[in-house]
Amino acid sequence: MFSQLKPLPTDPILGLMAAFKADTNDKKIDLGVGVYKDEQGQTPVLKAVKKAEEFRLANETTKSYIGLAGNLEYCQKMEQLLLGDAHPALLADRVRTAQAPGGTGSLRVAAEFIKRCNEQATVWVTTPTWANHISLFEAAGLNVKEYPYYDYDNKGLLFDDMVNTLSQVPAGDVVLLHACCHNPSGMDLNFAQWQKVAEIAKVQGFTVLVDIAYQGFGTSLDEDAAGLRHLASQVDELIICSSCSKNFGLYRERIGACSVISKDQATADIANSVMLSVVRSIYSMPPAHGADIVNTILSSDELTAMWHQELDDMRSRINGLRSLLKDKLNDKCEGMDFSFIERQHGMFSFLGINKEQIERLQKEYSIYIVGSSRVNVAGVSKDNIDYFADAVAAVTK
Ligand code: LMR
Repeated sequence: MFSQLKPLPTDPILGLMAAFKADTNDKKIDLGVGVYKDEQGQTPVLKAVKKAEEFRLANETTKSYIGLAGNLEYCQKMEQLLLGDAHPALLADRVRTAQAPGGTGSLRVAAEFIKRCNEQATVWVTTPTWANHISLFEAAGLNVKEYPYYDYDNKGLLFDDMVNTLSQVPAGDVVLLHACCHNPSGMDLNFAQWQKVAEIAKVQGFTVLVDIAYQGFGTSLDEDAAGLRHLASQVDELIICSSCSKNFGLYRERIGACSVISKDQATADIANSVMLSVVRSIYSMPPAHGADIVNTILSSDELTAMWHQELDDMRSRINGLRSLLKDKLNDKCEGMDFSFIERQHGMFSFLGINKEQIERLQKEYSIYIVGSSRVNVAGVSKDNIDYFADAVAAVTK
């Protein structure tokens, strides 16, 4: 049976990790996978996470199963982090959350849930979107279509085109939006644009799925969720897929959540039963460690304050690098304008260079960026920024 299989190309993002590891050039730079790095190029465990892990090691009393929805306190804390403590949907008891293995796990739960709601649903994603979105929804048997989003020419948004397309999406379909720090472009909707999308969703009756994997990396925990919170206050139904990989630095612990908001409490209970049945059929129940860490941090004022500070530090470093990178590239690359890098948010921006130039960066300079020209700004440091900007100048000359 296996001999009929055809080999598949490596994942466009994760494949770069292996290639970077194998590269022996001591000047190599990894701007590929979306992992935060400090000035030393490391991704250390956050101090708040270490403290929570110490607490867990000392206080954990059992390894027994935790149940389909995972850690219920974690689920409640995540709802509050995402929506704010007093969101009308929470006060009306319309939200149900299942802990999930990472952002990707939560998306897969959402995909199967959507299929149970409407087998014929089309999921609409931004052009472009995170490389894994399309294959993930297609793997679940859903149709995927794209709507205009990033303006490659002007390095902004194609908002009018987006509105035109979304105004034709029918009820029964799902529109995926990135809450903040759009992956891969870094170009976000402003609040007025979120309001417009909420209006269209109400008129058309489609369901929105908000993918929020970078809360706190854009402007602040609250501002990064402002569009999501507004949308959740306007529509009857919403799906939220969240991840603690980046903002808690818990990448390999695979911790995220799938939250479903329904029109009333009774429908929410039914939706929850379907979501938990989906969970049972995929992985039965989630692993405990990451959720315990997040719950321990969010249950302690001291650890929460420590985490906020660490998150603020990560965001400030990225924003500082955005402005430095813009200056260096504008300085060294004659006739090119990289000022858009400063206007965008989160870890990613497109450099806007072509395939051949991207390949030259890798082959001649050991600089690894995704084939779409997406760079992880956090991978730049004061030590390597000149080397990087010189290399971009050389390949674009
Ligand atoms: C990324 O976009 O680089 C991250 O979300 C990691 C991944 O799984 O692709």
